[in-house]
Amino acid sequence: MDKITVPKVKHFKGKKIITALTAYDFLTARILDEAGIDIILVGDSVGTTIQGLSSTIPVKMEEMLYHTRIVKRGVKRALVVGDMPFLSYQTSQEDAIRNAGLFLKEGAEAIKLEGGEKVAPLIEKLVSYGIPVMGHIGLTPQSVNLFGGYKIQGKTEKKKERLITDAKALEEAGVFSIVLEGMPEEVGKEITESVSVPTIGIGAGRFCDGQILVITDMLGMDPMFTPHFVKKYRDLYEEIKSAVREYIEDIETQKFPSEEHVFHAKKKEE
Ligand code: KIV
Repeated sequence: MDKITVPKVKHFKGKKIITALTAYDFLTARILDEAGIDIILVGDSVGTTIQGLSSTIPVKMEEMLYHTRIVKRGVKRALVVGDMPFLSYQTSQEDAIRNAGLFLKEGAEAIKLEGGEKVAPLIEKLVSYGIPVMGHIGLTPQSVNLFGGYKIQGKTEKKKERLITDAKALEEAGVFSIVLEGMPEEVGKEITESVSVPTIGIGAGRFCDGQILVITDMLGMDPMFTPHFVKKYRDLYEEIKSAVREYIEDIETQKFPSEEHVFHAKKKEE
């Protein structure tokens, strides 16, 4: 087992395509880790996927720390990255350092935060205190209100240039990788070629240094959410529903429990 570390992820650029998925619990994290994923992100997407929220904005620090703790218990090899929720790093450098540090205390080996040039001084500070940072630009979900919805970013020349400037500022500030979310493939490619740190794409085309998806999306657990950029590897929504229906029927027809599932008392005293 070759433990994935922050320097290794940096070193992968141009040598190995980075694989990443989100996870929010122990069992899922253990499965992803055993399958050989490089990075497990404890994403604030926990809000929309697990908590039933319509955005990631209400997700709280204590919830993120809880999910980081239980994910970490399932992981031996992958790099675990904790996602800083809305308002955990925007209020002050002190808040950001404290909150980022709390992720590390729960076992995360790095944190991720959203934003470009504006958050670069903060990232520099975090890195100087030994906290590895993954950047995140493009369709950053915590800015959904500013964007007026989950809209693809960087579509005009000016906006593309903005994203390239942001990516370079993050690189300069010391991030070890950058998530590129929701942008034209050409923009993802140009950013990837403009920075020396690996880019990890989600809806950012084929030319990033790695790819990440939300675990519940790629497993097909939510039939109401099928964005264009997601490949559904399974239809777990239907799989689980049909298993539960079978279970209900088995109980009602007294097929379960059967002889193989029951305990028996000793026949006579020994
Ligand atoms: O929270 C999350 O799952 C993310 C990924 C989409 C990159 O930020």
